[in-house]
Amino acid sequence: MKIAVVGTGYVGLVTGTCLAETGNNVICVDINEAKVKKMQDGQVPIYEPGLDLLFHRNIEQGRLHFTINLADAIEEAQIIFMALPTPPGGDGAADLSYILGAAKDISKIIKGYKIIVNKSTVPVGTADKVRAVFKENTDIEVDVVSNPEFLREGVAVEDFMKPDRVVLGTTSERAKKLMTELYGPYVRQGNPILFMDERSSELTKYAANSFLATKITFMNEVANLCELVGADVDAVRRGIGSDERIGKRFLFPGIGYGGSCFPKDVQALVMAADENTYDFQILKSVMEVNERQKTILVDKVLKYYKNDIAGKHFALWGLAFKPETDDIREAPALYIIDALVKHGATVSVFDPEGMANVKNIIGDKVVFADNQYDALKDADALLIATEWSVFRNPDFEKIESILKNKVIFDGRNLYDLQKMIDLGYYYNSIGRKLID
Ligand code: UDX
Repeated sequence: MKIAVVGTGYVGLVTGTCLAETGNNVICVDINEAKVKKMQDGQVPIYEPGLDLLFHRNIEQGRLHFTINLADAIEEAQIIFMALPTPPGGDGAADLSYILGAAKDISKIIKGYKIIVNKSTVPVGTADKVRAVFKENTDIEVDVVSNPEFLREGVAVEDFMKPDRVVLGTTSERAKKLMTELYGPYVRQGNPILFMDERSSELTKYAANSFLATKITFMNEVANLCELVGADVDAVRRGIGSDERIGKRFLFPGIGYGGSCFPKDVQALVMAADENTYDFQILKSVMEVNERQKTILVDKVLKYYKNDIAGKHFALWGLAFKPETDDIREAPALYIIDALVKHGATVSVFDPEGMANVKNIIGDKVVFADNQYDALKDADALLIATEWSVFRNPDFEKIESILKNKVIFDGRNLYDLQKMIDLGYYYNSIGRKLID
């Protein structure tokens, strides 16, 4: 099939590349000339495991193209995916100007029937708005389909190639037929393509992310309580996760959820509810608790140092909001740095992929170390904010020889408690026994 993807951000690029991988001819279009030039020269603009291989293979085999010319991109396309940003506007509601602007541009140049697919996370009712833009500007028939993405950063390629489900919001039989054909190769293993009306599809995305954010937040609160009552959150997690109704995944306590999706989507759903005079109380609490959780490691540090960390120096392992990404949007690490610095401490950081992005935002507010052990130099204690594999089994002898004191505050529960007792560390993690 011939496909156009408008917007080559994270979602657009993964979508375009993965659609090319099953034999479709894909043209990706973006207004950012420099970025398009880079991609035409074979450079992947984001870090995403596995994407590189598919990107180059499909370019070489002539199925993946990049352009800045919208008319060229959509001329022959049967299906046009819109993967454009929907940042929170001034009032916190998703700003639809990119999507509606692109819809307008497309509506003025199409010459025949097209399927317009909304891939971005958009408020309920956006498909109707996009349809209205086309009605206003052209007599040519289009079908507008809502197709939310459920990609997780770090495993996006795998998620796209083998989705748990594909959600498609459309009632048009013509669109259903073509979209089923397009997604067929991705659901061969038997996972469903779920057709529904556009509004249900749009809401599904927000509800899914908000539910997962709630699940994590619930577990973070259980963890906090575990510490107070002397229980072990790992045991409780296994105990409840074995119940299939609850499920084992997304029950890992930590220092709060971050990233480009959960915080934004939870807030958007609360706002959508408010606009419809519905008070979505549980999600308001989720937001509040998550804010608190992001600096829980600093609370532990302050308690340990009796509220005085002025002049102390800390090592921080992990900046990205989760492993296998360089994404630092809403990353708890940033809140931790901010709080430590505000209390007069200094910080050395290391992250396998996220350093450049953090440098761009906070400049020389912290010391950027060349590797995880260099970050420990002169540090009074080590804090861990992201569960990168390289932090999971470090050389504890080396840590001991560099770090001033054997003190670790672990926001991701990476280490075995008995091991930390045997090694003689002060070890403060989330929802587990304090080792001191
Ligand atoms: C999420 C959704 O999973 C995905 O379906 C959607 O398309 C985009 O948003 P992503 O933001 O890439 O994906 O990351 P995810 O792996 O879901 O993690 C989100 C946050 O939750 C991270 O900050 C992570 O550290 C945190 N998390 C996750 C926990 O704290 N505990 C867990 O058990 C799982």
